[in-house]
Amino acid sequence: MEFRHVAETAAATPADVVAFCVFGDPNKDAIFKQFNSALGGHLAEHAQAESFEGKPQQTLVFVNRDPKVAARRIIAIGAGSKGEFSLPSLRDLAATASATANRVGAKTAAFVAPTVGAGKDLTAVQLIVEGVVEGGYKFHKYLTAEDAKKASAVQSFVIITDAKKKPTAAQAKAIKSAIDRGAAIGAAVNHARDLINEPAGHMTPAQLAVEAQALAKKHPSLSVEVLGPKECAKLGMGMFLAVGQGSDQESRLIHITYKPKKKPKKKVALIGKGVTFDSGGYSLKPSASMEDMKVDMSGAAAVISSMDAIATLGSDYEVHAITAACENLVSGRAYKLGDVLRSMDGTTVEINNTDAEGRLTLGDAITYARTKVQPDEMYDFATLTGACMVALGPYTAGVFSDNDQLARGLLQSAERAGEDMWRMPMLTRLREQLKSNIADMRNTGDRYGGAITAALFLKTFAKDTPWVHVDIAGPASVTTARPSQPRGGTGFAVATLVEHLTAR
Ligand code: BES
Ligand code: MN
Ligand code: ZN
Repeated sequence: MEFRHVAETAAATPADVVAFCVFGDPNKDAIFKQFNSALGGHLAEHAQAESFEGKPQQTLVFVNRDPKVAARRIIAIGAGSKGEFSLPSLRDLAATASATANRVGAKTAAFVAPTVGAGKDLTAVQLIVEGVVEGGYKFHKYLTAEDAKKASAVQSFVIITDAKKKPTAAQAKAIKSAIDRGAAIGAAVNHARDLINEPAGHMTPAQLAVEAQALAKKHPSLSVEVLGPKECAKLGMGMFLAVGQGSDQESRLIHITYKPKKKPKKKVALIGKGVTFDSGGYSLKPSASMEDMKVDMSGAAAVISSMDAIATLGSDYEVHAITAACENLVSGRAYKLGDVLRSMDGTTVEINNTDAEGRLTLGDAITYARTKVQPDEMYDFATLTGACMVALGPYTAGVFSDNDQLARGLLQSAERAGEDMWRMPMLTRLREQLKSNIADMRNTGDRYGGAITAALFLKTFAKDTPWVHVDIAGPASVTTARPSQPRGGTGFAVATLVEHLTAR
C-alpha cells in the first residue's frame, strides 16, 4: 500500500472513500458539520436513521452523489468524546477506516487526520499509518480457501491535514518521515506477528535463526551470529542448554548486531525469551495451558523484528538483539526436577519446576550479553509468568528494574509509543523464596509474588549492568481482537523499542 499526504479541504479530496473521526455527537463535530452542510443536511439525516452517535466502534457509510463532495463514499468513524479519546486509539480508528474502505472495494482511501493538539500532529500521522498497516495483518498462509488470501482492495491511502495550514517544505518533509516511521514500525510489528503465529512445528530454534539471517540480509547495517549447542556448551551456558536438551530440535543462540554509520553514542543489548514451544517439561502443563505455547518466543520476535525498523530508520546506538532459542519438551534426555545446573556465570541452580524455564534461558542470555557485548544498558522482553497476568491483566506488561532512571526512560518510550506497561516492585525480601539447600539458588519461588521472584532470579545475572526486565506474558498475544490487532501474536514491544532507540 502506498501512503501520501495532502493538505486539503476534506470535501474537496477526490477518493473512492474519505473517512474521518467523529468525536461524540456528530451534530457538534466540526468535520461532520463541514460534510453535512456541503451535502445539504443529508449526512445528518443518514446518521440519525442509522443511530450513529460518534461512539467508539460505530461506523457510518454514506454513498455520495453530490458533486459538492469529491469522494464517492464518506465514512464517519465514531471516536467517542474528546475526553475519552487517547492518541494511540488512532491506530484502531485508522484500521477501521481502512477495513471499511476495503469492504466496499475502494482502491483509494483518504483519512482526515484529526486535530490532536500542539506538537502531536506528527505522532498522529505515524499512528494512523501504523494502524492501517497493522490492521491489514492476516496470518493466512495455512488457509486454503482462495478468498482468504485476497489482496487488500485499497492501494493508496491518503492522509488529509488541515487545508488552512499549508505545510512549509520542512513540515511536508517531517510529515513524510512520520509516514515512513509508521510504515517501518507497522512492517516490523507484522513481521513479529508472523514469527509468533507460525506454529512451533515449523518455527523451531533453527528456523528462528534462519529468519534472523534473512532479516539481516535486507540491511547492510545488520549482521548475525548463530551459535549451536556445542559452542554454547563451550561458553558454559548450562541453564540454557538444559532447557533445550529434551528436544530433538537443537538450541540456537541468535545474536544480531546493528552498527550505526557514526561512532555509537552507547551500546544497548536487547534480550528476548525465545522458547519456541513450552510444554512445561516434566512439570508438564495441562493441555489447555499448553495449547498456545508457541507464543513463548514473543520476546525473541519483538527484539528480532524491531531490528528491521531500527535498521530502516537508523539509530545513534549500537544495538544488539540476543535470544537463546530452544524448546522445552519431555523425553529421556530432558532435564529433571532436582537437577542442579551450572549457569554461564558459574551460579548453580536447583530445578524445582521445569516450567520455570524462561528465566534459565534468559539468565544465560543475560550473562552472554553482559560479558560478550558489555552494553551500557540491557533490556529483556519475556513471556515469563502467568503471575504477571494475574497482577496486571492481559493487556499490560510488567516492568521490573532496580535502576529507576532506566525504567522511567523505557516507560516514557512505551507511553509515547502507545503500549501499556506498568512498573512493578523488585521486592528483595522475596529472594528468600529462591533459597536452595544444595545449590546457590533454586529456579522457582512460591505462588505469591511469582512475577517478582522471576525478576529477582534474572537480576542475579544482570549484576551491576543497568538492566530492565519486561514481562510480556499478557500483551504478547490476544484472544480478543481490536481493529489494529487481530487475534494471535501482537508484536508487542516493537513500537516501544523503536521509539526508545531511534530519533524522530
Ligand atoms: N511461558 C510461561 C509463562 C506464560 C504463561 C506465558 C501464559 C504466556 C502465557 C512460563 O514459562 C511459565 O510456565 N511460567 C510459570 C512459572 C511458574 C512455574 C513459576 C507460570 O507462570 O506458571
Ligand atoms: Mn514454562
Ligand atoms: Zn515459558
